[in-house]
Amino acid sequence: MREPLRYIFQVAENALDRAFGPAWNPLHQLGALGFFFYWIVAASGIYVYLFFDTGVTEAYASIEYMTNEQWYLAGVMRSLHRYASDGMVFFMVLHVLREFSNDRYRGTRWFSWVTGWPAVVLLFVCGITGYWLVWDQLAQYVAITSTEWLDWLPIFGEPIARNFMAPEMLDDRFFTVLVFIHIAAPLILLLLLWLHLNRVSRPRSNPPRGLAIGSFVMLLVLSLIKPATSQAPADLAQAVGGVGLDWFYLGFYPLLNQWPGAVTWGGMATLGLILVALPWLPPLRQSAAARVDLDNCNGCTRCAEDCPYAAISMQRRTDGKPFELEAVVNGDLCVSCGICAGACPTATPFRRKSELVPGIELPDRTIAELRDDLEAQALEPTTHKRLLVIGCDHGVDVATLHDCQTGTLSLPCIGMLPPSFIDYALSHDIADGIVLTGCADGACQHRSGVDWTKARMARERDPYLRRRVPKERLLLSWVYKSQQARLKREIETFRDTLPQTPPLETTTPSTSKRSVEPSHV
Ligand code: HEM
Ligand code: SF4
Ligand code: SF4
Repeated sequence: MREPLRYIFQVAENALDRAFGPAWNPLHQLGALGFFFYWIVAASGIYVYLFFDTGVTEAYASIEYMTNEQWYLAGVMRSLHRYASDGMVFFMVLHVLREFSNDRYRGTRWFSWVTGWPAVVLLFVCGITGYWLVWDQLAQYVAITSTEWLDWLPIFGEPIARNFMAPEMLDDRFFTVLVFIHIAAPLILLLLLWLHLNRVSRPRSNPPRGLAIGSFVMLLVLSLIKPATSQAPADLAQAVGGVGLDWFYLGFYPLLNQWPGAVTWGGMATLGLILVALPWLPPLRQSAAARVDLDNCNGCTRCAEDCPYAAISMQRRTDGKPFELEAVVNGDLCVSCGICAGACPTATPFRRKSELVPGIELPDRTIAELRDDLEAQALEPTTHKRLLVIGCDHGVDVATLHDCQTGTLSLPCIGMLPPSFIDYALSHDIADGIVLTGCADGACQHRSGVDWTKARMARERDPYLRRRVPKERLLLSWVYKSQQARLKREIETFRDTLPQTPPLETTTPSTSKRSVEPSHV
């Protein structure tokens, strides 16, 4: 199921890239938009609460007052509260589908996946109790259906559906309990979301300002042209006829009326178990975690700063070397993306005097092997305008671009490439031009690989691309996996414009330490 879904997402993301640009693409910001809408719900909820009366007869009237008398403020707040809540469900569903389609839920990512599901349950508790509080016909329907459904479980001494059999059986205390649940659930939800992001370093939990303003204005316009309203007041003396449902939160309610409790509870428990267990069905066969070599680690902290999964901590030195810190990898958090190796100043292919072992690297894809693979891609110097295309295992399969003019190399993530390899390839006449490609901008499988690579090549983030590398010999192309044709076109245009220049001098830059002025890093 993953591949077709992934394809659909990539087509949609590509279309939205054109409309919004990669940075503002809503499909790249689904989790962040979920958070943003949470804050809108929280702020509007506080305002609405000021007007809400928790009595059985007063609740409906107080909400009517907001909608009709103070429509310009309390009414708008009520609408924002409702539409932002629907938006949260919308973004959450897309977010789950996107993480699933990109296979970002197995291996060490099981934690975000598993902690996401209780958040779903709590979000629904918030939404359902919210509709209940309005105490209109829809609330009556929700109250009766929910309590009858809950009564199927042998957890209450007295059936709670009895409270709704006649008007005199319902008292104000019930509303007080509901308000308590409606306020406590979002607070617990926030705690769960914090846990959800606990293993993600620098999570994108705030959308870019433009996207935030745009989506808020959209909600505001919707609230003004189609304000949220109540249905007729609840009347427990009469059975509820037809009600309009909010399909985001209550779409499954008709099934609760149609199917017996054993089927709905059994079905939900089975589906819940399957969804929670999905990261192990089947488990991800992950490569070995990154390994630190203390003899080559000077404690510069770059690997820890660049790791997108907070898998590296800098700890007090244990080997007596004259450095304050050393890098320590937590194997349970490492996804073997190799970005840390790309950040390490000691991962330089120019090193010849000693064995090429950097401070940190992947045991299954060492930096020494990478240099060998790079050298193996050297094409005949007589070949015209030779290119070396370095890609990532999650982007376009670069092996399909290999021909007599083009060498190719694929890495677990493009962020694993130390910039010194580009200098090395050009100065050792391995190629005339280098193409770096990986996931589309804003959609990096390893979250930060593309951003760090762009910043390193722009000489804005350590390790920098050495200044002597001419920019015109380097092409960066960020495309979706399905955009092989576009990548090919960009490569051919680049080849056409490539200057016929001699290779760079093969001077060996010094291996930098933190205190040393970086040469190629
Ligand atoms: C309203 C609810 C939710 C919000 C606000 C939310 C928010 C986020 C955010 C901000 C991120 C980090 C994105 C990044 O920086 O790359 C994230 C990651 C993730 N979320 Fe959610 N999330 C929600 C619900 C869920 C649910 C229900 C699931 C699945 C059951 C889920 C699964 C994941 C996974 C697998 C990741 C990826 C972690 C990684 O890349 O290692 N989320 N979420
Ligand atoms: S391989 Fe990736 S996840 Fe593992 S420590 Fe290095 S940067 Fe972090
Ligand atoms: S980047 Fe390399 S040298 Fe710096 S702390 Fe990490 S392993 Fe050590």
